[in-house]
Amino acid sequence: MTLLSSLLAQTGFSDADILALLRLEDETDIAQLRQAAFEVATREVGNSVYCRGLVEISNLCVRDCLYCGIRKSNHAISRYSLDAQTVIEAATWAARTGYGSCVLQAGERQDAAFVRFIEDCVREIKQRTISETLPQGLGITLSLGEQSLETYRRWFNAGAHRYLLRIETSSPALFARIHPREQSIKSRLQALADLASVGFQVGTGVMIGLPEQTLEDLAADIRFFADRDIDMIGMGPYITATGGAMTDESMMPSHDLLQLSLKMIAVTRLVLRDVNIAATTALQTLAADGRERGIAFGANVVMPNMTPVEARANYQLYDGKVCLNESREECSGCLARRILSVGRHVGHNAWGDSKHYGRRNDARDTPKNSLQSRQR
Ligand code: 5AD
Ligand code: FES
Repeated sequence: MTLLSSLLAQTGFSDADILALLRLEDETDIAQLRQAAFEVATREVGNSVYCRGLVEISNLCVRDCLYCGIRKSNHAISRYSLDAQTVIEAATWAARTGYGSCVLQAGERQDAAFVRFIEDCVREIKQRTISETLPQGLGITLSLGEQSLETYRRWFNAGAHRYLLRIETSSPALFARIHPREQSIKSRLQALADLASVGFQVGTGVMIGLPEQTLEDLAADIRFFADRDIDMIGMGPYITATGGAMTDESMMPSHDLLQLSLKMIAVTRLVLRDVNIAATTALQTLAADGRERGIAFGANVVMPNMTPVEARANYQLYDGKVCLNESREECSGCLARRILSVGRHVGHNAWGDSKHYGRRNDARDTPKNSLQSRQR
C-alpha cells in the first residue's frame, strides 16, 4: 500500500493528515482522494443526492460583510422582498416537484416584522405541503443569519428543522479582516450553539481561497466542523463581488481555486463521514461542471434555485453566479442530469436529513422536529 492509500483508508485523521491531504497537487493523487471520498459518501450517506429548493426571499440586509455583493452599503443594486404568497407558492412547487426540502435564504434582519413574516411563511408551507408522499410536509431549512435565541425558537416551533449559518472562517484574525468591527466570531459561535440547543440540525461552512487564508486555516476549519459536531456543511470558493469591499484584493486563479474547493469537500467527507455536504452553486462559477465535480468529491446535497427570475439578478453575493435566467423547471432538469452524470440518483420526496444528526440524537434520545414533537 502506498503512503497515500494508507492515509486515505484511515478513519481517524490528525491535523497533520488533514494538511497533507489538502496539500496534494498531483492529478493522480487528487483522483485517488476523490475516489476515496466518493466511496465514503456512498457507504455513509448512500448514493442519493438530495435537492433543497432555494428561495432567495430578500436582499435587504443590515450587515456589511466586506466580501458580499448584497452588503448594506452596496447602493448599486435594487433591494427587493418577495411577498409571502410568492415564497409559499415556490415551496409548494418544490413539494410537487419531489424535492423534499426547501431553503429560505435572505439578507439578515432582526426586526419584528421580518421575524413574524418568516414564522408565518414556515407555518403555512408546512401546512400546505403535508401529503401522502411527504407525511411531515416539506423539510424547511433556514439561512437567515444571526438571530436571538427567541427567534430561533419561534422559527423552529413554526416547523423549520435545519439552519445554515456559515462561520465563514474559523480563524478569529481572518474573520475580523473580512467583517466590519461590529461583527464578531464570538457571537457567530454563540449563534451556532443556540441553534443546536433549540434542536435545529445545524449547518455551517467556510469560504475557500479568501485573501491571506492559509492551508493551515482550512485544515483548522475542518477540525472546527468535527469538534463542534456539525450536521451539515456548505462551503464554496471565495469569488470577488463587485458590490463588495474587497474588489482590490486578489481572488485565487479559477483552476487552483476549484481544485482547492474540491479537495476541501473530499477531506471534509473523509474526516466527518456521515454529515450532509452541499455541492454549492459557486463551484459552477469556476467551471461548467463544478457542481457535479463537487458530488464526485463526496458532496450529497444540491440547492436548485427557485427564486423568481426577475429577482435573481439582485441576489448576487459574488460575481458570475450561474442560473440567473433559467426558470426553476430548467434548473430542476439540468441538476438531475448533472447528478446522474456522476453516478448518483436524485433522492425524491425525502427530507434527506443528515445521518450524523440522526446518530447524534439517537444517542441523546431527543425528538426530531416532527409534527408530534412540536405538539408535545
Ligand atoms: N464569494 C463566495 N461566497 C460568498 N458568500 C457571500 N459572499 C461571497 C463571495 N463573495 C457566501 C457566504 C455566506 C453565503 C450565504 O454566501 O459564505 O455565508
Ligand atoms: Fe440552473 Fe443548470 S441548475 S440551469
